[in-house]
Amino acid sequence: MPYRYDLVTGKNGFWENTDPAALAAQYGTPLYVYNERILRERCREMRELVSYPNFHVNYSAKANTNLTILRIAREEGLYVDAMSLGEITVEEAAGFDAKHIFFISNNVSREEMAQVIHKGIYVGVDSVSQLEMFGQLCPGGKVCVRLNTGVGAGHSAAVVTGGHETKFGIDPDQYDDMKRTADKYGLHLTGINQHIGSQFMTSDDFLEGTRRLLEVCMQYPELEMIDLGGGLGIPYHKADGEGRLDLAALGKALDKMFRDFAAAYGREVEFKLEPGRYVVAECCVLLGRVHDTKTVYENRFAGTDLGFNVLVRPVMYGSWHDVEIYRADGDDTGIRQVVSVVGNICESGDYLVTKRELPEILEGDLIGVMDAGAYGYSMSSNYNCRLRPAEVLITTNGEVKLIRRRDRLEDLLAGFETC
Ligand SMILES: Cc1ncc(COP(=O)(O)O)c(C=O)c1O
Repeated sequence: MPYRYDLVTGKNGFWENTDPAALAAQYGTPLYVYNERILRERCREMRELVSYPNFHVNYSAKANTNLTILRIAREEGLYVDAMSLGEITVEEAAGFDAKHIFFISNNVSREEMAQVIHKGIYVGVDSVSQLEMFGQLCPGGKVCVRLNTGVGAGHSAAVVTGGHETKFGIDPDQYDDMKRTADKYGLHLTGINQHIGSQFMTSDDFLEGTRRLLEVCMQYPELEMIDLGGGLGIPYHKADGEGRLDLAALGKALDKMFRDFAAAYGREVEFKLEPGRYVVAECCVLLGRVHDTKTVYENRFAGTDLGFNVLVRPVMYGSWHDVEIYRADGDDTGIRQVVSVVGNICESGDYLVTKRELPEILEGDLIGVMDAGAYGYSMSSNYNCRLRPAEVLITTNGEVKLIRRRDRLEDLLAGFETC
């Protein structure tokens, strides 16, 4: 009898007409599994967030740069942002036009900046020095500046990107300097952006950050675009019934702010949001296999192939992911245990789940890690010379497609020069 502890996918129908055991048998584990239906739903929710007409969503591709995911986002009418020339390369391959890519630069080299400008991609800079660099490379050009109005928020200090304790953005003391630098090179400050942090589940800080930004924007007469960043949160505690971010309320508040701004500014500007996680986190379950179970002194462990090279969020941010247990042969043992789910990396901190009460996990079980689509594969690595997983997509017409193959052992040797 197959056994499933599936509090999340049991409700959202994630597996459609396939099942985790079949996918693991065909593609092996670890395996990133995406559901196209859920991905498209999230894209549409973002696109339809406000009724203000000149509104666009830049999917923040850093969350997941799989080519197929990017193509679907493009089909759904999303634009993209890019943090590097590498992301731009993948986005171009996914069919994005230069005019739909926004480069959000941070400490980039002159060479990288020059290449991006050469492609005709709109650039956002986040310091006066990088504005100077832009001015030298593209005098008279249009540019966006990333401001830091002092508001930051996020699920972990590591993802707070606004406020006093972050490397990002230009603070108010430097606005005059920024304007002087722009004048020196005849630059047009046509865009202002900010991103205050990630994973907000209530909108207060985000709206306060937006309000402050819009106040500042009034002082810039040439604006064509204002980008409010991403950070929209998703419920990572679904199994415990965590509610969703109130998109209707957020959309309503933003709509009003956009319209009020346009009225006060004297014309409409384009408004953008830049969600990454909201678009891709929930359309993905990461599947891993339990290879070992043991007790070390008083601690119970389930040892899996889900090392932090595959999903680093729990180790990097202390993040929570709901997990499910699937057993192809056998039933629920009826036992509940406090267990840590750990990976196969030679590091004592290699924890996916720390001391959580779960139904008993047996060797051979599959572990499904919920909401793994954002900052999952895109932050994976070959640490310990482990192979990065394959990625498959359950399409809207029920097929399963391999959308990235698993690394091969020879990939580990591919970059070396012989000496
Ligand atoms: C500038 C910028 N925009 C957008 C995002 C996307 O954030 P999220 O995935 O939380 O929506 C990030 C993430 O760190 C970011 O740094």
